[in-house]
Amino acid sequence: MSIIYQRERKLLTIETENTSYQMQIDGNGFLHHLYYGRRIDAAEMSYLHVNADRGFSGNPYVLRNNRTFSLDTFPQEYTSFGVGDYRINSIAVTNGDGSYAADFRYLSHEIMPGKYTIPGMPTVYDDRGEAETLVITMQDPVTKLTVKLYYGVFPSTDVITRCAEIVNNGQEEVTLLKADSICLDMPFGKWDLVHFHGRHCLERQVERSPLIHSIQTIASKRGMTSHHHNPFVILCDHRADEDHGDCFGLMFMYSGNHKTEIEVDQLENVRVCMGIHDAQFRWKLSTGESFHTPEVILSFSSQGFTKLSHNYHDLIRHNVCRGKYKLAQRPVLINNWEATYFDFNEEKILHLARQAAELGIELFVLDDGWFGSRNDDNAGLGDWFVNTEKLPHGLTGLADEVNRLGMKFGLWIEPEMVNENSQLYREHPDWAFAAPHRSPMTGRNQLVLDMSRKDVVDYLYESISKLLRESHIEYIKWDMNRPISDVYSHGAPRERQGEISHRYVLGVYELMNRLTSAFPEVLFEGCAGGGGRFDPAILSYSPQIWLSDDTDPIERIKIQYGSSFGYPVSTMGAHVSASPNHQTGRTTPLKTRGVVAMSGTFGYELDLNKLSAQDKEEIRTQIADFKRYYWLIQDGEYYRLTDLEEGSFYTAWQFVARDGSETLVNMVVNSPQPNSLLIHIRLKGLDPEAVYVLDNDGSRYSGAALMYGGFTFPLMSGDYPAEQIHFVREQA
Ligand code: GLA
Repeated sequence: MSIIYQRERKLLTIETENTSYQMQIDGNGFLHHLYYGRRIDAAEMSYLHVNADRGFSGNPYVLRNNRTFSLDTFPQEYTSFGVGDYRINSIAVTNGDGSYAADFRYLSHEIMPGKYTIPGMPTVYDDRGEAETLVITMQDPVTKLTVKLYYGVFPSTDVITRCAEIVNNGQEEVTLLKADSICLDMPFGKWDLVHFHGRHCLERQVERSPLIHSIQTIASKRGMTSHHHNPFVILCDHRADEDHGDCFGLMFMYSGNHKTEIEVDQLENVRVCMGIHDAQFRWKLSTGESFHTPEVILSFSSQGFTKLSHNYHDLIRHNVCRGKYKLAQRPVLINNWEATYFDFNEEKILHLARQAAELGIELFVLDDGWFGSRNDDNAGLGDWFVNTEKLPHGLTGLADEVNRLGMKFGLWIEPEMVNENSQLYREHPDWAFAAPHRSPMTGRNQLVLDMSRKDVVDYLYESISKLLRESHIEYIKWDMNRPISDVYSHGAPRERQGEISHRYVLGVYELMNRLTSAFPEVLFEGCAGGGGRFDPAILSYSPQIWLSDDTDPIERIKIQYGSSFGYPVSTMGAHVSASPNHQTGRTTPLKTRGVVAMSGTFGYELDLNKLSAQDKEEIRTQIADFKRYYWLIQDGEYYRLTDLEEGSFYTAWQFVARDGSETLVNMVVNSPQPNSLLIHIRLKGLDPEAVYVLDNDGSRYSGAALMYGGFTFPLMSGDYPAEQIHFVREQA
């Protein structure tokens, strides 16, 4: 039982292996948040909270002269705007009579085995038979607007998921102005905020700063998760590091506009609210209708960032990703984008494919430019039929030929977009977002299709499934290459326009769901100009996402490092590309590019015609190494061994097999030095009593020596050298 109700004390406690979460219902039906943190075995924590009269923080009417209790100061589970809590709120509404009040009081709760789902949206699911669900129902006594708070419990990964359902049980229409998924009150402690910001080609850079007396916002109004702010934050104590300290993680399972607000209030309580961004959000709820928020994945570690990351890695691999390739070995691929860009024809592609097959590459991916009149990025999006001038034997002929070479065939698509210069736009100009009488913003000269429309989703489903039915396509790269703007649906009435941004996301999920269900054999890879839509919702349809359009290994180290706080390496699309690199112009050794790309889904994206025989030999070895280490990398536990914030001249990270039987240490010199310092690292996660043998020379070390004394690399010189060392535990 991971959810416990103590009736006499009206106490609800959620327990995971190492954490506890506790709430209490008071005599007036207010739902108090009592505790979240290290496991306390259902001990009542109400003693922590001392009521007091605070000036300018008023009191609920029902309490009359008792001034010691205020909605503005007590920790809550879901807080509403307009009735006396002046901090950030989880929900704001307008009622039928024009008032803004919503005052939710406890009505009932239910504890159920298994994990709840949310209609139309992906959720964390249970594959180990361990999950339980708690639903707490709260209601406004006047309007009968009802909020159901859902808690999903995953004990083995110390994860609690949360979301809300808002139901109009009243007689009048209500409009939601804001509907968050979670409010998390943290009444005690001093916390740092860690978040993951960036831009195109530089996603998920780690930033850590102490909270100040303010409201900080991590958000995206771009209609997509964004390269700029990942919907994942960590609150940790000031001294937390990889191995020590309290860390709370909140990850939003959503791919559209999002907003996380963090407030330090007058009493130095911290409140975090996370949900769909309220910008241009207005949702009408008629009598009987309900609105479901996406879910937040919450986890806590009292042992620093590494444990928190392991919780998320394990959960995403087992309870978020789905389908055939969730845990199956994925093929080593080659993608033609950086090899040819738009300049290709069948002959050129097959020439590349033949060389790739000889090197042991298993999947050939044909990127942008194969369809409609797409010869550059100004035309063709929307016309999902092959350009037979470039590919005279069609996709079917090409796929068959690639298959004959012993490789799988994969294809790039960008379903959600349209170019004005396309057959689709000429036939359906009203399918693109644009406010009446205005010219919409263009991005890469393309417009955004209105995915809130059923006819658009149906068209895309039909045209893409036709491709998948007619040709032997075993992989799809699903791209999305601009942010959304000018959100206005020509298929919806005036008063529903505030729903369109969210309905767009629901349309994307519907299309992804239909396609992945109809073609379960296909491996899907997400993409949005690299990692602009890197989130757990997309990962539930595609187990991997192209991490970044920046393929320079030295930049990639930073992007992979930041991403690793929340996401496992099995989700990170990573390729070896050309040197000098196309984004930065930097020259790096092939070995370094290989070491970095291997800490991802691994593939190649460069013109093989330009490689020497020696390079090709090295690629063969890389592929063999990657396959040898495949399960250790993809399924092993991942450890960050260096802290990028400290500005070290090298970066190291490690994989340890779950049974401790082997480990792979990766090290890249990201800032070469003259007269270099020694590179010394302490390994992690080993059995201290076991003996580990180094592959290279058979030397033997105890696990304790490697973890407490460490390992020193031989001096290395040259541009950005890298090393990969592999130890195997000696049989007892
Ligand atoms: C995006 C992707 C790239 C490539 C191009 C094609 O930028 O991230 O990998 O597919 O689109 O236009």
